[in-house]
Amino acid sequence: MSRLPEGSRSRRAFVGGLTASAAAFATGCATRKQTVKPAPSPPDSTAGTGSLREHAAAHGFLYGCAVDINSMRRDDGYATLVHEQAAIVVAENAMKWAPMRPSIDTWFFDDADWLVAFAEARHTKVRGHNLCWHRQLPKWFASEATVANARGLLVAHVERVVSRYAGRMHSWDVVNEAVHVGDGRGDGLRDSPWLRLVGEDYIEQTFRAARNADPQALLAYNEYGIEGSDPGSEQKRAAVLTLLRRLKARNVPVDALGIQSHITAGHSYGLGLVNFMAAVRGLGLQIFITEMDVNDRLWPANEAIRDKVVAESYGSYLDLVLREPAVRVVMTWGITDRRTWLNGEDARADHLPERCLPFGLKDGVRDAPKEAFFTMRNSFDRRPTTPAPRGL
Ligand code: XIL
Repeated sequence: MSRLPEGSRSRRAFVGGLTASAAAFATGCATRKQTVKPAPSPPDSTAGTGSLREHAAAHGFLYGCAVDINSMRRDDGYATLVHEQAAIVVAENAMKWAPMRPSIDTWFFDDADWLVAFAEARHTKVRGHNLCWHRQLPKWFASEATVANARGLLVAHVERVVSRYAGRMHSWDVVNEAVHVGDGRGDGLRDSPWLRLVGEDYIEQTFRAARNADPQALLAYNEYGIEGSDPGSEQKRAAVLTLLRRLKARNVPVDALGIQSHITAGHSYGLGLVNFMAAVRGLGLQIFITEMDVNDRLWPANEAIRDKVVAESYGSYLDLVLREPAVRVVMTWGITDRRTWLNGEDARADHLPERCLPFGLKDGVRDAPKEAFFTMRNSFDRRPTTPAPRGL
């Protein structure tokens, strides 16, 4: 049985909230604790010692993925795939403000509790995502959050959510996507509701509240659009670096930068990102690749072509970032093409399902490992064991 910290709800209480099949799965895994080490897998297996999690662990980092909790609860195949591949999981949506805050004074923790229990029963780590973002705010926020109450609302939210899982989280994305150079401010900060209502120190306040509520979790600033070789990415990297330097200079408890890594097959990624990561390491921060997927929307319908370019993109991008010793976590935003946000936002013009993740439909087999899985794993295996020099 997994150990819960003093004062937390008993595991029985968690399992009580599970569907029958998920509960049976959770209980089964817990009672098999002593034999949890996987038997040696055949050389061509993609599970057990052949899994992404095992190959990442052998090279000093964690591999994991974002999960859809409703699918986990009703789809054992999906839950098994996650368990088999991921050493760390993050809720794709359940820990955001909108799902957690049905009204200004009510809370919904069931899904997040379920995921934390699922992970603990399997010795899997959990990331929290996220505590402060301009998107997926609840509907009531626009009419009820004001200059007078926003700071209190933010701090109380962080205290309540972070303390609930204190001591059990690997890390939190504390502030998400706070930089947007296009908004025209000198400091590069996004003109977000939080900035307007709380003021410029909202980022700092959120980090401090999170550290107070859970001194153990690593605290990350998470950002997108800082990966590419285009001038927009270059500008945004400079603004993010300025923000991180300012936070460090003020002793704000930030431990890591999350680089989302929603990349596009056909775009270029290179030296700008490499030098940026070295500068981030220079600030004493870890780096997490937090939300990787490879959008295939620039490519024709042909599946073989898409699988090839997506796989190549995974391989070359991961080769680039895994040379950086500060990178300690690589997460994909989903694990199987069956469940990806890219078919909603950023969908292909022809509306064909994206083939953006390591598993998916292949030769009629559901959730089969695709070429991307193998290029990822090879790239994990190429990670240098000694610290890489600065630059390429
Ligand atoms: C996305 C989810 O995947 C979708 O299901 C949801 O509708 C919108 O948000 N950057 C982030 C994530 O930090 O929280 C976003 O997740 C994807 C972009």
